[in-house]
Amino acid sequence: MLSYISAKEAAEKWNISQRRVAILCSEERIKGAMMVGNMWIIPSNAEKPVDKRTVRYEKTHKVELKPFVKWVGGKGQLVDEIEKMFPFDGENALTKYAEPMVGGGALFFNVLSKYTFEELYISDINSELINAYTAIKQNVEALIARLNEMQMTFLPLDDNGRKYYYYNIRDKFNSLELSERSSIEKAAYFIFLNKTCFNGLYRVNRKGQFNVPMGSYKNPTICDKENLRNIHIALQNVTIVCGDYTLSKSFIDNNTFVYLDPPYRPISETSMFTSYNVDAFDDNEQIRLAKFIDELNAAGAKIVLSNSDPKNINPEDNFFDDLYKSYRIHRVSATRMINSNAEKRGKINELLICN
Ligand SMILES: C[S@@+](CC[C@H](N)C(=O)[O-])C[C@H]1O[C@@H](n2cnc3c(N)ncnc32)[C@H](O)[C@@H]1O
Repeated sequence: MLSYISAKEAAEKWNISQRRVAILCSEERIKGAMMVGNMWIIPSNAEKPVDKRTVRYEKTHKVELKPFVKWVGGKGQLVDEIEKMFPFDGENALTKYAEPMVGGGALFFNVLSKYTFEELYISDINSELINAYTAIKQNVEALIARLNEMQMTFLPLDDNGRKYYYYNIRDKFNSLELSERSSIEKAAYFIFLNKTCFNGLYRVNRKGQFNVPMGSYKNPTICDKENLRNIHIALQNVTIVCGDYTLSKSFIDNNTFVYLDPPYRPISETSMFTSYNVDAFDDNEQIRLAKFIDELNAAGAKIVLSNSDPKNINPEDNFFDDLYKSYRIHRVSATRMINSNAEKRGKINELLICN
């Protein structure tokens, strides 16, 4: 026997508004939906209709772009879950995309590969990372030439030779001031170090000097020419900014989809992987971010925020549930990729919070 669900239940199931469900029903786009009294009921096995407007965003010839660096907290494995929350079924067609804490950009590159937005904005507080994005956008061939040279020199070396070369590049990276003149050289060092260091970590000491030891990859791809060239093309209509996420405020409006992925609130007292920069992202920072999200919400932007779930460690910890009580909070399962102790890698919940 056919069973039915209410418009409210369908809205929750498909992650769209109740009003949108009513519109779709009245446009006869949900098979079997009917009006009972003044309410729509929907067959419980009905498929979520594809919004016609999504066609506007779908590319016909897709080039798959991959992140050009490994990044702590990279959201590669959450991309599908986050994509389910894309608000392309919302009341307004969205033409702009903003990712103000882009890091390695797992979602950003997925979005660039699949959808066409008119304007995009990315930023990060890490100036070396942003310098690398900018070098790819503005000067990809010079960057490829330099990276290729480094790859050809590094790969044939034996263990000792590689060590000597790695630590020499690390010293050069730390002593070279970032400027317009040094930008390509520094971007090349940055990508080389990311591809050859321990776990792709970016960690600096109190003086801001990169101090990650060499990793033990046999045959790392230091220069992925094809991906870099494809990224170069895709970045041409992307505004790239180095600085605090709040700078994105002037870009974001009610036509913008915003994805925010802040550094994790440490999931345990021993967890040490939140210090991307000298300043850690503590609870006060999380509160400052929540206020910013309230401002974006008031401006009408569509927002998705990810974070680690403190309930993984302490089921009584309601920090994010309280902070985001007026938003929808989804808990999704993920494997934490980097932990100080390899045995602690395992399934945990991540939070996806949206308006
Ligand atoms: C969890 S990582 C983002 C990872 C990214 N989603 C990915 O797939 O690689 C958080 C990023 O926020 C950046 N960040 C930290 N504080 C920031 C701030 N105040 N403004 C902008 N970015 C910030 C860090 O440098 C880091 O790259």
